[in-house]
Amino acid sequence: MSRSVQVTLSGQNWVFEARAGETILEAAEWSGVILPSSCRTGACRTCMCLSTRGKVRYHVEWPGLSKEEKRDGYILPCVAEAETDLTLVVPAAQLQP
Ligand code: FES
Repeated sequence: MSRSVQVTLSGQNWVFEARAGETILEAAEWSGVILPSSCRTGACRTCMCLSTRGKVRYHVEWPGLSKEEKRDGYILPCVAEAETDLTLVVPAAQLQP
């Protein structure tokens, strides 16, 4: 059985599972949640959001975040994998129709 953790969107109070090896963006889509995205490579910052709880690791070496943004809790869900349960603030998140 593969490891999975829970991602909570605090504003909407929606929760979805994220499995090892998948990005937070992919996990959201598998669960019917649409997060803002564009390039999906960690470059454009369209997906940038605040993580208020939990830990992520990146699938790319240089995600497009400054040291200060990382320190303040901002993440790029298109290239980040959840290592622990997470809480995210994504006001523009939507449910798939
Ligand atoms: S979608 Fe472009 S950085 Fe995440």
